Amino acid sequence: MSRLAAGVVLVTAHEPPLDPEGPPGEDVGMTATAFMSVSLDPPLAMVSLREGSRMDDLLAEQPLWAVSVLAESQRHIAGRFAMKGRVSDRLLFEDIPYERGEASGAPLVGGALATLECRTEQRVAAGDHTLVIGHVLTASIPSAEGGPLAYFRGRYRQLA
Ligand SMILES: Cc1cc2nc3c(=O)[nH]c(=O)nc-3n(C[C@H](O)[C@H](O)[C@H](O)COP(=O)(O)O)c2cc1C
Repeated sequence: MSRLAAGVVLVTAHEPPLDPEGPPGEDVGMTATAFMSVSLDPPLAMVSLREGSRMDDLLAEQPLWAVSVLAESQRHIAGRFAMKGRVSDRLLFEDIPYERGEASGAPLVGGALATLECRTEQRVAAGDHTLVIGHVLTASIPSAEGGPLAYFRGRYRQLA
């Protein structure tokens, strides 16, 4: 599969606070290439999440999530949200321009080639991953210019 060139997205969701009186909730992000369009009518998209990853655990509880299609200049964002063993994502968002999606409350990365907000419609356990199929609630194009961040043979690439 490393021979299949893929676009790179950041999947995001907002983890609500455990206690509404306590500390605020946290934004969570995960770099992914296993993201695809599924249906046009109704509009559905899907992401495949490693079972037991933080995003898989979060989306088991939180039906609203978002996807930012990363631009070639956003390699550093992909890198930081792919790190294993992170304790918190709070600091990782600090220097990234983002807006909070109106439909999902999830971060939408500024300068991304496209952003989508989704509500989970179906979860399918598939081996050691969960396929999360979402109804697309909103779609926007923050950055009309710029090429995609791609991943091929284990490396980030940009189109020549
Ligand atoms: C280029 C790239 C693509 C990735 N694509 C996926 C993916 O589609 N699904 C997935 O579950 N993890 C994917 N990962 C791994 C996650 O980003 C990584 O496991 C996660 O951020 C680490 O958090 P965790 O410890 O909760 O898994 C990818 C990593 C990289 C570098």
